[in-house]
Amino acid sequence: MADGPILITGGSGQLARALDKAARAAGVAAVRVGRPEFDFDRPDSLDTLTRHHAPALVVNAAAYTAVDAAETDEAAAYRANRDGPARLASLAAAAGIPLLHVSTDFVFDGRKGEPYVESDPASPQGVYGASKLAGERAVLDSGARATVLRTSWVYGAQGKNFVLTMLNAARRTDRLRVVADQKGCPTAASDLAQAIVAIAARLRQTGWQDGYAGIFHAAGTGSTTWHGFAEAIFANAARHGVKPPVVEPIATADWPTPTRRPADSRLDCAKLAATFGVRLPEWQGSLSRTIDEIHAGTA
Ligand SMILES: NC(=O)c1ccc[n+]([C@@H]2O[C@H](COP(=O)([O-])OP(=O)(O)OC[C@H]3O[C@@H](n4cnc5c(N)ncnc54)[C@H](OP(=O)(O)O)[C@@H]3O)[C@@H](O)[C@H]2O)c1
Repeated sequence: MADGPILITGGSGQLARALDKAARAAGVAAVRVGRPEFDFDRPDSLDTLTRHHAPALVVNAAAYTAVDAAETDEAAAYRANRDGPARLASLAAAAGIPLLHVSTDFVFDGRKGEPYVESDPASPQGVYGASKLAGERAVLDSGARATVLRTSWVYGAQGKNFVLTMLNAARRTDRLRVVADQKGCPTAASDLAQAIVAIAARLRQTGWQDGYAGIFHAAGTGSTTWHGFAEAIFANAARHGVKPPVVEPIATADWPTPTRRPADSRLDCAKLAATFGVRLPEWQGSLSRTIDEIHAGTA
């Protein structure tokens, strides 16, 4: 692989920020780009990227992630989740550099009943999942050296995520209702970022290999429900003096949303471990560490 920094797209997004931090901690040069200078809504803003930054690798962590808003903003979701990544992939192909593209568990309908493997058929339930699936396909069909990493339930010490939503709610109320019949794998943005930096190091070490192309699942180890996740968040926050609210388990049917969420989107990450030697940590330890960071204000 060529010398040069890792080019990270996604501006101030949770994963983009975590990637920047993980790369710097590993002593790897990184450049992070975001709006307005990098904007999938202005496709020509991408065109000089690879020439200007001469990266060794591109990681696309930019996406339209507002799951419910996507239902009424379909064109923008496809611009950011399919057309933009397709253009980024053709730039990577032209420059001869690999592209790591991040995707989602929402490509599945959640009806399998056991963790999904990469070869399971996708069947998204809404515009967000469909646009991300279209993006995966566009990237893989582009001719670029492309690795697609599907992740799930991402949270960090900053940004818009379930952990911060729960902690904020605990300041306002002593009773919450949380869905208890959807299962998934919580993923700390910092863990996924470290996994991506480790994959980048592997690419640098071995050069590109055919086995690196395609889809890989990359989520925190273990799984829970949103209700179990909320209980774990409050158990950790209690160590910092936060009074835990009562968390009432409810059914999905009691919490209607514009987009149907997959009931069970657990991801089997064995292929990632076998190919890249990378396994994300157990979700409980990462949650505990993240909540410590939030309370220490060290994120
Ligand atoms: N969050 C989750 O629970 C979750 C679950 C599964 C998969 N994922 C995937 O993980 C990846 C990272 O997600 P995240 O949680 O870091 O999301 P995030 O915090 O919402 O960040 C996404 C970033 O994408 C950028 N962006 C949005 N629209 C754009 C556009 N039209 N042009 C250029 N940049 C645009 C924004 O950057 P600016 O700062 O420049 O505005 C935004 O900060 C995404 O591919 C997402 O689909 C996330």
